[in-house]
Formats: sequence, structure tokens, C-alpha cells
Amino acid sequence: MDVMQIAVVGAGVVGLSTALCISNVVPRSSVTVISDKFTPHTTSDVAAGMLIPHTYADISVHKQKQWFRETFDHLFAIANSSEAGDAGVHLVSGWQIFRNLPTEEIPFWADVVLGFRKMTESELKKFPQHVFGQAFTTLKCESPSYLPWLEKKVKANGGLMRTRRIEDLWELHSSYDIVINCSGLGSRELTGDSKMLPVRGQVLKVQAPWVKHFIRDGNGLTYIYPGSSNVTLGGTRQKGDWNLSPDPEISRDILSRCCALESSLHGAYNIKEAVGLRPSRPGVRLQKELLVQDDRRLPVVHHYGHGSGGFSVHWGTALEATKLVSELAHTLRTSDPKTKL
Ligand SMILES: Cc1cc2nc3c(=O)[nH]c(=O)nc-3n(C[C@H](O)[C@H](O)[C@H](O)COP(=O)(O)OP(=O)(O)OC[C@H]3O[C@@H](n4cnc5c(N)ncnc54)[C@H](O)[C@@H]3O)c2cc1C
Ligand SMILES: *[C@@H]1O[C@H](CO)[C@@H](O)[C@H](O)[C@H]1NC(C)=O
Ligand SMILES: *[C@@H]1O[C@H](CO)[C@@H](O)[C@H](O)[C@H]1NC(C)=O
Ligand SMILES: *[C@@H]1O[C@H](CO)[C@@H](O)[C@H](O)[C@H]1NC(C)=O
Repeated sequence: MDVMQIAVVGAGVVGLSTALCISNVVPRSSVTVISDKFTPHTTSDVAAGMLIPHTYADISVHKQKQWFRETFDHLFAIANSSEAGDAGVHLVSGWQIFRNLPTEEIPFWADVVLGFRKMTESELKKFPQHVFGQAFTTLKCESPSYLPWLEKKVKANGGLMRTRRIEDLWELHSSYDIVINCSGLGSRELTGDSKMLPVRGQVLKVQAPWVKHFIRDGNGLTYIYPGSSNVTLGGTRQKGDWNLSPDPEISRDILSRCCALESSLHGAYNIKEAVGLRPSRPGVRLQKELLVQDDRRLPVVHHYGHGSGGFSVHWGTALEATKLVSELAHTLRTSDPKTKL
């Protein structure tokens, strides 16, 4: 085996970052991203791309913190370089506010973001309904820039992009040595993974260039995330709802909830609606599996189920998936070529 052929299924933030990581790290390999949809048509395109961790019930806090720290440090370096504008990664400061005192006043990620502190009395005066708040600086990935930038980086490393819908992983057996399953919600039908569930999110993208500070209600339902050319207003979390059409009544409700936190949004203009289905699961699935059918073998790395926090942890989980790929590549190279693993 001269050059290892590696297929990454999925071209959201998870598939593209995994492809980039593999092409940076795994020697003598060729990476192909295979997906039925590419940017701007994935769930990842709808996301605000804020680095504020979501909590995964089935993953240790230690591991979640590690993924978040690796992602934050990686993107902080990009935001601090001449590539920042092209990649669409920038720092953003703001507030997370609570109507009731949260059980954890200091979240596990407090020392990863920058300048984390409790909000002062005078800051809280802006929010008469809220009793407590956290102020910090974090990072934001602008999907319309970040996803094309990841694609460009993968291609610069020799990677290929192929538009194709995969019905069954075995279709890839004849052309690829290793397959990485980054199909997001697609993995529910494809793997029969019944733990996967869509959590529908509707948002507005508005023009309000005077809004520079993010505001997030601690319950995660209402948020105002300013980006480089839009402000994202959210949101909803509708479990099990597959409807991708925007609901005008929900849009009115989002705008009124956001205006209640930031009155100046009454003057927002050029309001566009967007919907995405979060690929949710009690924990991200990061696992090697050797598929066997008769005498055929296909090594797979599963990497999906990032739910509400894909941007926040994607580089950390891509590093871990790449480690699994390296282990498989090593086994393939050192095993008897006739048995193919
Ligand atoms: C409204 C909203 C706001 C969000 N805001 C944030 C945020 O601020 N911060 C944050 O961290 N996260 C946020 N998220 C979550 C984030 O969007 C997801 O965690 C992330 O996008 C998941 O990435 P993914 O690559 O796994 O999935 P996707 O982006 O859905 O990509 C899956 C890819 O697989 C392909 N695919 C699927 N099935 C097949 C198949 N059978 N054959 C070929 N290709 C296939 C698809 O075409 C697609 O390219 C938000 C989500 C929503 C909906
Ligand atoms: C930010 O950039 C400066 C100048 O290039 C460099 O000295 C510094 O180490 C960088 N810091 C980080 C966190 O990337
Ligand atoms: C993901 O892996 C499963 C095996 O668990 C497989 O059945 C499915 O086809 C894979 N999905 C994709 C998109 O490759
Ligand atoms: C902002 O919204 C406009 C449409 O109003 C869109 O063309 C543009 O790509 C958006 N930019 C970002 C960074 O989301």
C-alpha cells in the first residue's frame, strides 16, 4: 500500500476539519471529502459559530474541557494571524445572563475563554429581569467564511471534494482503505443510530451594525450574536422536529425576545430567517469500528453527534478522530497486505 486512500463522509464543520487534520498529520495519505451537500447548504452554515460549550451528558467534563481548550487555542491563534479575515474567525465579548442563580456560577470552561468574571451591579442594570451574569471574551467562526476556508486548506494539502450521496458505507470499499463517518444527522438513517435526534433551531440574521456585544440568556434559548456582517438572533430548541421551513410566528417571537434584552434591535433591518437541525446525541460518537462482510473488511472511524456545540469542540474532536485514523493506518501498513487488516 503506497498511498492510503481515506474517505471523509460529510462536509459540515466536522467533516472538513477532520479532513484538514488528517491531511496535515497522516503521512502518505490522500483524503477525499464525499458529501451530498457542501457549504452553504449544511447545518453548519446555519450556526452562529460561537465558542460557548454545550454540555454532553455522556462525556466526562475533563474530556469536554480538553476538546474545548484545543479548539479555542487553535482558533485563537488563527484569529491572531493574518488569516483571520479569510478564515472568518474573530474575538467577541459579551454577557451570559441568568433569571435565577445558576447551580454552577463558574462553568467548567471559565478558564479557557478570556477574562471570565461575574457581571457587576451596574452591568446588570441593563437587564432588570436577570439577577446574575457572566462576562467573558470568546471566539466566533463565521460559517460563510470558515467553511470555504477549511475547504481551501484541504485542497491545498491535495485533498479532493466529491458530491455524492452515500447509501451504504460498503459503496466506498473498493476505492478507499479507511472511511470516516462525519455525516451528522445523516448517520441516524445510515447507521441506524437511534440515539441521534434532530433538535431544530430557527434563527434570524439581521443587520444591526451598532450591536457589538453578545448577549445570551443562560437557558440558551434567547441569544444575540454579532458577527462581522450580520447579527444572529435566536433561537429555538425543538426536539424531534424535522421541519426545515422557517415559521413566521417563531420569527416574531425570536425578535421580541431579543428586543426585550437589547432594545436597539427594534431598529434592525434586512431580516432573514434560517433553520438548521442539530445532530444531537447524549455524547459525540468517536470510535473505531471494523466492518466485516463475508471476507471483506472496512475500517471506519465514527465522528458525529455534536448537537448544539459542534463549533465549540470541532478541532478537539477532529484531533481525536485523526489519532484513531493514524492507528488504523499504522495497522493497515504493518499487516499482511493480502488479508487487508
Ligand atoms: C440554529 C443553530 C445555531 C447553532 N449555533 C451554534 C453555535 O453558536 N456554536 C456551536 O458550537 N454550535 C452551534 N450549532 C451546532 C452546530 O451547527 C452543529 O453542532 C454542527 O454544525 C454539526 O456539524 P456536522 O459537520 O456534524 O453536521 P452538518 O453540518 O450537518 O454536516 C453533515 C454533512 O454530512 C453530509 N451527509 C449526511 N448524510 C450523508 C450521506 N448519506 N451521504 C453523503 N453525505 C451525507 C451532509 O450533506 C453534510 O455535508 C448551531 C446549530 C443550529 C441549528
Ligand atoms: C499573537 O500574535 C503575536 C504577534 O505575531 C505573537 O507574538 C503572539 O504569540 C500571538 N499569540 C497567540 C495566542 O497566538
Ligand atoms: C456510518 O457507519 C455505519 C456503520 O455503523 C454505516 O452503516 C453507515 O453507512 C455510515 N454512514 C456513512 C454516511 O458513511
Ligand atoms: C449576512 O447576511 C447577508 C444577507 O443579509 C448574507 O449575504 C451574508 O452572507 C451574511 N454574512 C454572514 C457573515 O453571515
